[in-house]
Amino acid sequence: MELFIFCVVLLSFPHDSKESGDWCYEPQVNCTDSHSCKGPMEWNEVESACAGSKQSPVNIVTAKAKYNSSLKPFEFVYYSQSNTVTIKNNGHSAQITLNSSIKVSGGGLPTTYKAVQMHFHWGTSDVKEIGSEHTIDGERYPMELHIVHIKENFADLNEAIKEADGIAVLGFLYNESGSPNGNYDSLITSLSNITLEGNSTTINNFMLEKLIPSKENMAKYYRYSGSLTTPACNEAVVWTVFAEPIQLSKDQLQAFPNNLLYTNGKNMTENYRPLQRLNGRTIQTSSSCIVASSSLLAANGLFCSFLASVIIYTQFY
Ligand SMILES: *[C@@H]1O[C@H](CO)[C@@H](O)[C@H](O)[C@H]1NC(C)=O
Ligand SMILES: *[C@@H]1O[C@H](CO)[C@@H](O)[C@H](O)[C@H]1NC(C)=O
Ligand SMILES: *[C@@H]1O[C@H](CO)[C@@H](O)[C@H](O)[C@H]1NC(C)=O
Ligand SMILES: *[C@@H]1O[C@H](CO)[C@@H](O)[C@H](O)[C@H]1NC(C)=O
Ligand SMILES: *[C@@H]1O[C@H](CO)[C@@H](O)[C@H](O)[C@H]1NC(C)=O
Ligand SMILES: *[C@@H]1O[C@H](CO)[C@@H](O)[C@H](O)[C@H]1NC(C)=O
Ligand SMILES: [Zn+2]
Repeated sequence: MELFIFCVVLLSFPHDSKESGDWCYEPQVNCTDSHSCKGPMEWNEVESACAGSKQSPVNIVTAKAKYNSSLKPFEFVYYSQSNTVTIKNNGHSAQITLNSSIKVSGGGLPTTYKAVQMHFHWGTSDVKEIGSEHTIDGERYPMELHIVHIKENFADLNEAIKEADGIAVLGFLYNESGSPNGNYDSLITSLSNITLEGNSTTINNFMLEKLIPSKENMAKYYRYSGSLTTPACNEAVVWTVFAEPIQLSKDQLQAFPNNLLYTNGKNMTENYRPLQRLNGRTIQTSSSCIVASSSLLAANGLFCSFLASVIIYTQFY
């Protein structure tokens, strides 16, 4: 943090010009180079929308999340389709292009959305408390997945960013588990082929459904209106952050920062945007369970799982 503050001071006095720099994440900022790329604190110099009032990511305070009974489970189309996909190092993340016949609806969304791409945000090899973009009750998870969808009738993201709910991103947090998640094997192996920016490779038999929690475990989620978490930071996103994390082993989580490099030759680390202010926005939740006080946690946990099974029962049978 101190190093970072030093950096801002250095940059904003002697080189206060807009001449230079593409956007980048904090580890790529070169304090001694006036043509350095712009870190998250300066993204508003790249795109004014990044200084908007409905930006993402945010901290989700679970005790303040408002229950909304319209936030029903999602319906997924072609999430179980087996496809050959392309994964690419785009200089900021590992990104997989998705077939637009993959769709999502329900979940309180106003219409059907089709998939465009998915990508990840992560931390470093050593520290497991950093990496996710959204935090829950102040807790940061080691990694976060964003599955980006646009309204079915739009041609591409450029059209979708023009509407406040043009884009639906499904966000999943990761947690470190003791054993590897076999469903991630081929994805993680492919990372060794996309070390440099612009590198891409294919993954065979790729099935989205296998990478995310089971449908029953996706009934609980948080919903708010926000933005893309990279420039141009367009405030066009219906955000969903699922409460149930995806489990990966330490080695699997480390494979992301260990295999991918930024253009400056350093490991691709900490490719997440700092938290943004809510500015009066409410976060809604699909679950009426109150898990606010840790002393009540055990009792509530029981009640919630009972409630969840009732919901699932009435939903699917
Ligand atoms: C996308 O999915 C559809 C439906 O399964 C399929 O017909 C099509 O070949 C797929 N396209 C690509 C590029 O994989
Ligand atoms: C509850 O969710 C539905 C579906 O997203 C939305 O239309 C409605 O405005 C929400 N209710 C409130 C009180 O915000
Ligand atoms: C994530 O893992 C940590 C450490 O094992 C655990 O304390 C925490 O409850 C987990 N979080 C969730 C949401 O499962
Ligand atoms: C890496 O790329 C090479 C050459 O395209 C290919 O033969 C190999 O299967 C790829 N490995 C992985 C793990 O994707
Ligand atoms: C990655 O990109 C570099 C530079 O463009 C290229 O030389 C290299 O062959 C690529 N590696 C793979 C595995 O595609
Ligand atoms: C960078 O990656 C190498 C492996 O490629 C790993 O040994 C090292 O710990 C990584 N450093 C950071 C800061 O993530
Ligand atoms: Zn993202």
